[in-house]
Amino acid sequence: MNFKDLREYIRFLEEKGDLVRIKTPVNHELEITEIADRTIKSGGPALLFENVTGSDMPVLINMFGSDQRMAWALGVDGLDEIVGRVEGLLDLMHGPPEGLMNKLRTLGQLVHLGSFQPKTVNSGPCQDVVLQGEDVDLYKFPILKCWPLDGGPFITLPLVITKDPETGIQNYGTYRMQVYDKQTTGMHWQTHKVGTHHYRMANELGLERFDVAVALGGDPATIWTGSAPLPPDMDEMAAAGFLREEGVELVKAKTNDLLVPAQAEIVLEGYVVPGEERTEGPFGDHTGYYSMEDPYPVFHVTCITHRNDPIYPATVVGRPPMEDYWMGKVTERIFLPMMKMILPEIVDINMPAEGIFHNLVIVSVKKEYPGQGRKVMHGLWGLGLMSLVKTIIVVDHFVDVQNISEVAWRVANNIDPAQDFVFSTGPIDDLDIGSPTPKFGSKVGIDATVKMPQEGGREREWPPDIVMDDAIKALVDSKWSDYGLG
Ligand SMILES: Cc1cc2nc3c(=O)[nH]c(=O)nc-3n(C[C@H](O)[C@H](O)[C@H](O)COP(=O)(O)O)c2cc1C
Repeated sequence: MNFKDLREYIRFLEEKGDLVRIKTPVNHELEITEIADRTIKSGGPALLFENVTGSDMPVLINMFGSDQRMAWALGVDGLDEIVGRVEGLLDLMHGPPEGLMNKLRTLGQLVHLGSFQPKTVNSGPCQDVVLQGEDVDLYKFPILKCWPLDGGPFITLPLVITKDPETGIQNYGTYRMQVYDKQTTGMHWQTHKVGTHHYRMANELGLERFDVAVALGGDPATIWTGSAPLPPDMDEMAAAGFLREEGVELVKAKTNDLLVPAQAEIVLEGYVVPGEERTEGPFGDHTGYYSMEDPYPVFHVTCITHRNDPIYPATVVGRPPMEDYWMGKVTERIFLPMMKMILPEIVDINMPAEGIFHNLVIVSVKKEYPGQGRKVMHGLWGLGLMSLVKTIIVVDHFVDVQNISEVAWRVANNIDPAQDFVFSTGPIDDLDIGSPTPKFGSKVGIDATVKMPQEGGREREWPPDIVMDDAIKALVDSKWSDYGLG
């Protein structure tokens, strides 16, 4: 399974009965949000709004909003399949293969990997229509105003493309964009993101203009990679190609040198002026609170290209769970094997919806020595965007971190609060509302593992879990119907 573009994915979801076309007129201000919010929270389908007031374009929303849809979007039936492929890829790094068959298999895999690289093409449907000058008008697109106190309409599912001014390596990131007028938007580059790093470099180099392109739509794996926290110089398009097992087609933008996904629905081309900033927000954010006004860079749109009859993709964030929970859940699954390479004692990890990724991470570890729970906390706080996590709970390997009830039970029982809370400080997410000042704040790790004698001088034995004998369980199973309990 591999989708060429958004249209193929829409057709697929429709065949699966997992997409509803809504023909009733709906307003892009607030009404779509309320419908999407109810649909997402009740586990409903993807929605294609075909009659949006003020625009002749349909709006697609909730394309990633379930475990199953997220797996399909990445071209598999279940996420385990993708995780298996990531593990296979990492296996290639585990030293030279032994035996002829294994050597040939590895060679085959490497050749296969080469074919997943992005392919530059001369033309693409994303440039069927080219608009420049006065024809550039963002208000022709059904851009959503999501929540009542939002500062305006926001583009919520963009793939923002920038180039490292020194290496020329492109980055693709999902960063929302507030529409200020028909040719200008905000660029919500949070402090710790790669697009922001490029922007800071452009500032330092004293560039007068910094080119930016924004793709909307494309094949679903490509859209998703914008949200994946890949290391700065790792190409999101190579990752998308690996996931869909076919290289992503890229085409040169019409008015600058950036390469954009050829199968996108809409592409905005333009520039940011280093140093120019403007108030962005408020915006009903994925924290479940409004992110209030803050200064952010400004994106000037000089050219819009689009397909014939483009489809406008969007998402709505808000009080969790929302669609972005599912986009993040697959990130958690895909990145777990990589985290295990660096911190091999990690067994499983859970970023529950309520923790919105940067507030709460629960991790189970196979502990072999005193202090290992703390080692994992500090290790995670040093790892990419994990450095922003405010609360890390560490439990033992036998605890099911996906079961919040079990985690709450173990944590509350196991901790000695005076010893098991590890406080630290460091960078925090720009969206954090708890810390007194933005961007820097405190963190807490809770070591809820079974303690060894060296950890705090514990002299008491750890009590065993209460578990019934297998023989009694089997006996009760066999007599269950006799008890008259149904
Ligand atoms: C729907 C959605 C909206 C997002 N909006 C923003 C945003 O406005 N600003 C931001 O910095 N990150 C935002 N993110 C998170 C980034 O996409 C994510 O951190 C990603 O790793 C950034 O790419 P980068 O690592 O190349 O910077 C959003 C994620 C999703 C799924």
